[in-house]
Amino acid sequence: MHEHDVIVVGAGGAGLRAAIAAKEEGADVAIVTKLHPVRSHTGAAEGGINAALQEEDSWEDHAYDTMKGSDFLGDAPAIETLTKDAREDVIQLEHWGMPFSREEDGTVSQRPFGGLSYPRTTYAGAETGHHLLHTMYEQVVKRGIEVYEEWYVTDLAVTDEDDPEDRTCHGVAAYDIKNGAVEGFRARDSVILATGGLGQVFDHTTNAVANTGDGQAMAYRAGVPLEDMEFVQFHPTSLPSTGVLISEAVRGEGGILYNAEGERFMFERGYANNEGELASRDVVSRAELTEINEGRGIEDEYVHLDMRHLGEERIMDRLENILHLAADFEGVDGLEEPMPVKPGQHYQMGGIETDENGETCIEGLYAAGECACVSVHGANRLGGNALPELFVFGKRAGYHAAGRDMKTAEIPTGPSARSEAGDVSPAVEPGAIEPATDEDAVADGGQTADPTAIVDQEVEAERERIERLLEDDGTNHADIRADVQQTMTEYVNVFRTEEGIETALEDLQDARRDYQDVAVEDPSRTFNTDLIHTLETRNIIDLAETIALGALARTEFRGAHWRAEHQTRKDDEWLKHTMIAWNNGDLDLYYVPVILDGESKTYEPVDRSY
Ligand code: FUM
Repeated sequence: MHEHDVIVVGAGGAGLRAAIAAKEEGADVAIVTKLHPVRSHTGAAEGGINAALQEEDSWEDHAYDTMKGSDFLGDAPAIETLTKDAREDVIQLEHWGMPFSREEDGTVSQRPFGGLSYPRTTYAGAETGHHLLHTMYEQVVKRGIEVYEEWYVTDLAVTDEDDPEDRTCHGVAAYDIKNGAVEGFRARDSVILATGGLGQVFDHTTNAVANTGDGQAMAYRAGVPLEDMEFVQFHPTSLPSTGVLISEAVRGEGGILYNAEGERFMFERGYANNEGELASRDVVSRAELTEINEGRGIEDEYVHLDMRHLGEERIMDRLENILHLAADFEGVDGLEEPMPVKPGQHYQMGGIETDENGETCIEGLYAAGECACVSVHGANRLGGNALPELFVFGKRAGYHAAGRDMKTAEIPTGPSARSEAGDVSPAVEPGAIEPATDEDAVADGGQTADPTAIVDQEVEAERERIERLLEDDGTNHADIRADVQQTMTEYVNVFRTEEGIETALEDLQDARRDYQDVAVEDPSRTFNTDLIHTLETRNIIDLAETIALGALARTEFRGAHWRAEHQTRKDDEWLKHTMIAWNNGDLDLYYVPVILDGESKTYEPVDRSY
C-alpha cells in the first residue's frame, strides 16, 4: 500500500495547483492520475484567464459580471473569493514563467470575452491552458512531488456510517493501467478530487475522451451530494465534425457569426442587441440553434464564424492555433474562408458540493476544479472563469487539506445544511434508481477504526470487480455508452422538454440494466483501454442520470437550463441549488438556497440581457 499525507486525484490545473499548495504547507503529497499530467484536459483550454489587473477594473466588477453570468445562481462568497484571489494568482503564474501574451510595453495583454464588462481576459495566444499546465507541472517537478502516472482511481475508501456527514475518507483504490495491478493509496490526512469534466456524457463535446466525470461519480456513490447538475454549458463554437473547440477568443478579437443568409444574426435577429457575438455562451448557443432549427443554418447543421477581416498579422499573433485546428479538423483555411461552428457540450457548472476551502461533507474528502461545485458559475459560466477557478480553489483545497488554518467557510455543505425537500421526479420513483454498480459505495467493514483496513477492503472489492469484468462474458460497454451519449444529446441538450427528459431517464434505466451484464472482451493486463472505458461507462451512466433528474426537477428557465414549458426565470421559487445525493440505495433530491449576500452588498437579481 502506498501512503502519503495528501493524495490528489487528477493532474490538470486544479490537481497540480492543489498539490503545490499542500507541499508548500509541508505535507507529503502525491498525485495519482490516469493520464500523464501534461495530457490533462486543462491543456485544451484556449482563450484565457479572467483577472481584474488594471486600475480602472476591479474585483467587484468581475464579481458582478460573474454573478450576472451565473443568472444569479452563484454563491457570493465563492464568486468574491474567485475574483479577489485571481489577481494575485495570475501574478504568481507570471512569476513562475507563464508565457502570457504581452503589449508593446511588456504588460500582460487582456482581451474582451463574453459577458465581461471590461476586457480582463489574460491569455497566451489561443493555447492558454497548454502553457498554464506546463508552467504548473514544472513547479510540481521542481518540488519533487511524487506523481503516479497512468493509475486510474476507481473508488474511494470511505467509512460506512449511515449518515454521510459522519463518514471519513481514508484513501483510494487505483488500477495501474501499465500492468493491471489494483493497489491502495492511503491518505493520512486527505484526498483531493481534481478529475475535471464529464463531457463524455454527451456525444458532441469539446472535452477529451478521458473526461468521464470519475471524481463526481465516486463522490456521489460515497454519499456526497452533487449540486446543480442540470446546468451544462454548450459552447457556441465547436467544430461540427469533431467537437474540437474554436475559442471564444476569436469573437473576443472581433470574429463575426453569420447564418446561411449572410445575416449577422446576433444583432440582425435581435438575440443580443448590445453585446452581439460576445453575449454569454448560453445566449449565443441558443441563438445558433434557433437559426439552424428555423432553416437558416448551413447544411442544416452549423453557422459560420468569420475572422478574415482581422487580418493575417493579428490572427497569427493572437489566434494562430485556431488556424491549425480549422485546417486540421475541417480542412478550412481561416485566413481565406469562414469556419463552420455549432454548439457543443463544453463544461459542467454543477458538481461535487464543496465549500470555499474545497471541503465536502465527508471528512478528509476535498474537491476542486471542474469536478467541484463551490458554486462560482451557477447556471452559466463565463468564458475565462474556468482557469482561475482551477488555481484559486485548487490552491485553497491544497492548503486546507494539508492542515492550514483557513478562514471558516461561509458556504455550508451536506444534507443537514438548510435543506428543503424536493421530488425526485414525477416519473421516477426513488429507489427505482440504482447506480450502475452492484457494489456498495462505502467500505462494508463495520466501524473499523483502522484506516488501512478500510483502504484494503476497498482494494479487494475493486480487484474482484475488475476480475469479474475480465473473466465474464457479456455486453460490450461501447454500445451502452453510445446510447447514453445519444439520448443525452437528443433530449437533455440546449433545448429541453419535459417529455424529452423523461424519455432520456427511461433510456438511462435501460442503460443501467444493460450495464449489469457488461464484460470486457480484451483480457490483457497492460493498457487495456476496453477495461478502462468499461469502468468509466458506469460513471457516465450515473452522472447522466443526475443531469436529467435535475433538469426535470427545475421547472424554470435559468442560464443554460432552457425548458420549453417554463419560459421564465422564477426567482420567487428557484433561487436555490438542486442537490442530488445517493446513499446506499436511497436517492435524495433536495434544495439549498443560493447565497446572494456578498462582503459588502447583496446581489439583487435583475433581468439578464446582453
Ligand atoms: O473559448 C474558449 O477559449 C474557452 C474558454 C473557457 O471555457 O473558459
